[in-house]
Amino acid sequence: MKVILMGVLLGLLFLSQFSFAADQASLDKGKRLYLANCIQCHNRDPNLKGSMGPEVVDAPLEVMYSKVMTGLYPAKLPAGFVPKRKSRAMRKIPKLEKDIPAIHAWVQSVKKKK
Ligand code: HEC
Repeated sequence: MKVILMGVLLGLLFLSQFSFAADQASLDKGKRLYLANCIQCHNRDPNLKGSMGPEVVDAPLEVMYSKVMTGLYPAKLPAGFVPKRKSRAMRKIPKLEKDIPAIHAWVQSVKKKK
């Protein structure tokens, strides 16, 4: 009985390490892609304004998704979200589609609490 319990505990420990590693890998990937694709205009620190683009920390995933896929804000804005700019200067980068959640997750992971 004790042996089975130990086995289960070790299994859980192994699984939790594994899912943490997967998570960390996707945060690292999000960071790498943000630094490679976004900081010509946005700040290296997503909490701050960049040379051309605003801070990106306040945009929900669906807003980031729309900006990256189309360059535009979504037609219907999520409740409570106010766009930082009225301009339409961002260009779309649709090749990043499947990695937008990782970029968003990394940005949220470095967001400063107000
Ligand atoms: C060519 C410059 C440029 C690049 C490259 C760029 N952006 Fe933008 N981004 C902007 C500008 C300018 C705005 C302000 C609205 C507009 O003019 O489109 C903006 C707005 C945003 C917003 C909305 C922020 C808010 O709260 O209103 C998000 C989110 C965003 N960008 C994410 C990204 C991400 C993620 C990348 C990289 C994958 C990226 N942008 C690459 C210029 C850029």
